[in-house]
Amino acid sequence: MEFNYDYCKVSADYIRSKINFEPELGMILGSGLSPLAAEIEDALEIPYSEIPNFLLSTVATHAGKLICGRLAGKNVVCMSGRFHSYEGYDFRQLSIPVHVFKILGVKAMILTNAAGAVNMSYKPGDIMIIRDHMMFSGMSPMRGANDERFGPRFFDVSKMYSPQLIQTAQECASGTDLTVHQGVYFFMQGPQFETPSEIRAIRLLGGDAVGMSTVTEALTAAHCSLPVLGFSILTNMAAGITDKPLSDEEVNEVGNMIADQFSDYIRTVIEKI
Ligand code: HPA
Repeated sequence: MEFNYDYCKVSADYIRSKINFEPELGMILGSGLSPLAAEIEDALEIPYSEIPNFLLSTVATHAGKLICGRLAGKNVVCMSGRFHSYEGYDFRQLSIPVHVFKILGVKAMILTNAAGAVNMSYKPGDIMIIRDHMMFSGMSPMRGANDERFGPRFFDVSKMYSPQLIQTAQECASGTDLTVHQGVYFFMQGPQFETPSEIRAIRLLGGDAVGMSTVTEALTAAHCSLPVLGFSILTNMAAGITDKPLSDEEVNEVGNMIADQFSDYIRTVIEKI
């Protein structure tokens, strides 16, 4: 199966047939971040299962629906619940949502995730604006036949996370009680959390946060020339930093704890971009 432009256009045409506006902003929200989706006005919710050629979310805490409407004065299409490599999708399939958004006409992507803090100066409940990422799995969502309608075979990713959007997000941080860092997101495939040795290695390499998502979406966006703004909610200190075993309960608990504050912060960012 070729997950190319024609394939993604089937999903995009279906979504377009349901909405009566031009989306400006695409959003993909990670675990426990659905409160923000609930603030979308005039919302039309489309379950992923209804969208032809789309993927299905298998994680309980990921809602699995596309929410279309207005947020902070912008027309948005928002995925509440995302797809991950650990669910069994290959990297190429993970390019589908961003490509569908591109065909729908969005001009930028906001990506959020829950992540473990590798940087010792970070605390659970802090936010990290993603300045860059590292992924050494050797895979790419752009592996395989290149569809020039999206972008060129070889493409630059040195400013994948838009410096302009990062600056705006950092400026908005002064209006919130959240502690907002900028740092490097390190991708690990999961679903197991990392070993303490892996976390020490990631820190040596320059990673500030670790997580199991986002990079395929950011790379797909870079390939089709969509600027990206990415946020990690640091839900826990990464493995081995404290004695406590890691669990998705903890991840969701901390995510939920700051969800309202985070939603307010993202709203102000969206107003400014
Ligand atoms: N590691 C990987 N993914 C995560 C973590 C973590 O510590 N916390 C939340 N998502």
